[in-house]
Amino acid sequence: MTSTRVSSSANSELSSSLEDLVCLQDFEGCARGLVSSIAWEYIHSGAADEITLRANRERLDAIRLCPRVLRDVSLLDTRTSVLGMELPFPLMIAPTALHKLVHAEGELATVRGANAAGVPFTLSTLSSVSIEDVAAQATVPLWFQLYIQRDRELTRSLVQRAEAAKFAGLCVTVDTPILGVRNRLQRARFVVPPEIEFANLHEIEVKRARHGGTGAFTGVIPESMTWKDIEWLQSFSKLPIVLKGILNPEDADQAAKLGVAGIIVSNHGARDLDTLPATIDALPRVADRIAGRIPVLMDGGIRRGTDILKALALGAVAVLLGRPVLYGLGTGGERGVERIVKILRSELELTMALSGRPTIASIDRTLIWS
Ligand code: FNR
Ligand code: LAC
Repeated sequence: MTSTRVSSSANSELSSSLEDLVCLQDFEGCARGLVSSIAWEYIHSGAADEITLRANRERLDAIRLCPRVLRDVSLLDTRTSVLGMELPFPLMIAPTALHKLVHAEGELATVRGANAAGVPFTLSTLSSVSIEDVAAQATVPLWFQLYIQRDRELTRSLVQRAEAAKFAGLCVTVDTPILGVRNRLQRARFVVPPEIEFANLHEIEVKRARHGGTGAFTGVIPESMTWKDIEWLQSFSKLPIVLKGILNPEDADQAAKLGVAGIIVSNHGARDLDTLPATIDALPRVADRIAGRIPVLMDGGIRRGTDILKALALGAVAVLLGRPVLYGLGTGGERGVERIVKILRSELELTMALSGRPTIASIDRTLIWS
C-alpha cells in the first residue's frame, strides 16, 4: 500500500521517480511490485483463459495507421466535448472498484489526480470512498457508474445521491449481471480486506458476509436487469444515462431507440465473459449502426496515444481508461494518476501530428490502413 502523505523531500523524490516512468507499461511494471499480491490479482486479471484480455491489446496493436504528409500540424487541438462536458482530450477515467486496495486514500487520491489532469472521473458504485466525499474534492465533471441493486429503492437513492452531489452523468453498467469466471481471484482467495468497505452501500455492507473469490461481490452486483430497468431509471433520473458494456449493434440500436444519452462499447476489461470480441473490433459495427444518433465511447486496452487515435478513427467520440489509472494510483497516488493521463495526452498529440490529423474532427476512418 503506497503512503498517502509524502514529505517534501519524498515528494521531490516521488516526482523524479515518476518522471522516470515514460509510458503506461512502465507504470504497470512498477505497480506490480508496489501493490499487494491480492490487489494485483484483482486488478490485472481477466476472465477464464484471458483470451479477450489479450485480444483487447493484440487487436489494437494489429491496426496500422495511414498517415498524410505535408499537412499543417503546427497547431494541434485535442479538445472535444461529450454530453456537455468539455474534455481537454477525448479521455475519461473508467469506473473501477475499491481504489483503497492500492492507495490508502482510495478514490480521493484518484479524483485529485483527475483534477490535476483535467479529465472527468467515473466513480464506481463499488467505490471505497463515498459519492459525497469524492464529489467534495472534485473540480472535474463526475459520472456515477451504477450497478442496479436488487433493492430498487436503494438503487433510486444512489442515483439521487449522485444528483444531489452534482454528478454530470449516470453510467449504467449493463454487461455484468453477475461476475464471470475469475480463476485468478479464486486462486488468490480474493476477499475485500476488512478495513476497506463499499462506501456507498452501508445498508448492504453491514450484513455482508465477506466471501472469497467472486463471492467478495455477493449482494452488490445486479444479478438481473432488463431494458425495463433502464426505462425505470429514465422515469426519475435527472442525469443523462449512458449504458456501459454494449458490444452488439442490436443492443446499441435498442439503446438509441430507447433514448439513452450515450453508450460505451466495452467488454468490462475482459473480466467477465471470455472469448468476447476485442472492443476495438466491436466498435466500428456499433458506430455504423448508431450512425451518429448518440455518442459512442469505448474502453478496453487503451495504453497508447495511437490506441486513442484508432478508437476515434473507428467511431468513438472518447475513450475511458481502467487498469492504468490504478497502476498510476498504486505507484504514485494522485501524482501517478495525473502523470498517466498526461503521458497519454502527449502521446495523442504526437501521433496526431505525425499522422497529419491536427484536430479531433480530422480523425476518421481514412486514418486506418486498410
Ligand atoms: C473494473 N471495471 C468496472 N466497471 C464497472 O462498470 N464498474 C466497476 O466497478 C468496475 N470495476 C473494475 C475494477 C477493476 C480492478 C478493473 C480492472 C475494471 C471495468 C472498467 O470500468 C473498464 O471497463 C475496463 O477496466 C477497461 O479496460 P482497461 O482500460 O482496464 O483495459
Ligand atoms: C469488476 C467488477 C466489480 O470488474 O466491476 O471487478
